[in-house]
Amino acid sequence: MDFNLTKQQEMVRKMVADFTENEIKPIAADTDRNSEYPADTIKQLFRYGVMGMIVPKEYGGAGADDICGAIAIEELSKQCASTGDIVATHNGLCCGPIIQHGTEDQKKKYLPMLTTGCKVGAFALTEPNAGSDASKGTTTAVLDGDHYVMNGSKIFITNGYVADIFVVFAMTDPSKGTKGISAFIVEKDFPGFAVGKHEEKMGLHGSPTAEIVFTDCIVPKENLLGVEGKGFNIAMQTLDGGRIGIAAQALGISEGAMKEAMDFTKSRVQFGKPISKFQNTQFKFADMEVAINAGKLLTYSAAAKKGTGARFTKEAAMAKLFCSENAMKITTEAVQMFGGYGYTKDYPVERMMRDAKITEIYEGTSEIQRIVISSNIL
Ligand code: CAA
Repeated sequence: MDFNLTKQQEMVRKMVADFTENEIKPIAADTDRNSEYPADTIKQLFRYGVMGMIVPKEYGGAGADDICGAIAIEELSKQCASTGDIVATHNGLCCGPIIQHGTEDQKKKYLPMLTTGCKVGAFALTEPNAGSDASKGTTTAVLDGDHYVMNGSKIFITNGYVADIFVVFAMTDPSKGTKGISAFIVEKDFPGFAVGKHEEKMGLHGSPTAEIVFTDCIVPKENLLGVEGKGFNIAMQTLDGGRIGIAAQALGISEGAMKEAMDFTKSRVQFGKPISKFQNTQFKFADMEVAINAGKLLTYSAAAKKGTGARFTKEAAMAKLFCSENAMKITTEAVQMFGGYGYTKDYPVERMMRDAKITEIYEGTSEIQRIVISSNIL
């Protein structure tokens, strides 16, 4: 077993780390404060090949492996989890299922748009009454000649009001339960497609979350992704990949918060010495270091397994569960170390703590990850 990163993986880390330090860090607080989609940053990330990083070169992508994909999200999320989220959704939840399940024609049409064409992607599964119980969606798609007619709505869609291309799940045969769900590639310009409510969230203020509404939306027959009735399996497989992205995002948030807390405690003097000199503080950093390194091993090994083509459902769930719960613990500890300053918006740890919370919820709550892990071992 080789625990060293390849040259390409190290290169991706350096490139994204430099970009994050120079381009993202200076604007991260304003992105949060103004709830502003970082459009210029995303344009640059297309130019750098980070948006669409895992797309094969023949379709316009960087052809990078899944560990590179995770490292990029981790580095971005050290300073701005919103940017990490936008990239994770685009790469893992939109490009991912098209790479895996698209026909040659679909790949040739959509993947260049999602890479060199700078079109943003999204994934629409969740509905008001189908969150954790994802198979209970009521959006329908009825075949009518050369197209499907889609009706229903989706909520909490990351990239919702900026995306151009959506992977959407709808019932094509409601009598068949999970086997009646199908996946589709839907463009925002299809007739009957509309963006609904924009969500105001606790954190991830730069990541645009919205409702999507389909009213007799016309989806060409050739935009069916995979086979009719296999949509639920496609959704679950896609989320396996997406969960590695969220693990990486949570890791990045943890690392960012730990670095802020180390810098602060080295300069903050109380009771005659920097608070980093107190053993209470040192032991907390020791625990953070262990958790972050264990999280890296879980995340990168899940990504490595994905790259082999073997099923990695349990590994992705373990990485997401572990890293997201640690992100919440580490950011909460970081705020605590800052004392009163940590509760203000003058320091980034307050934002990091708010951003960390969603990693325990989206792409499957911690409870769902425990269901997935236990059902894979019992
Ligand atoms: N890969 C491939 N197929 C899978 C699979 C996987 N990981 N998991 C399940 N399946 C297949 C099963 O094999 C089964 O197929 P067959 O009928 O052919 O045997 C089928 O799917 C149904 O499986 P289950 O009976 O296990 O399904 P379930 O209804 O009990 O649900 C669940 C299982 C794990 C709870 C699932 O519903 C789940 O993961 N829920 C959480 C949903 C979620 O993560 N939502 C996040 C929304 S997206 C988001 O957050 C992004 C954003 O933009 C904000």
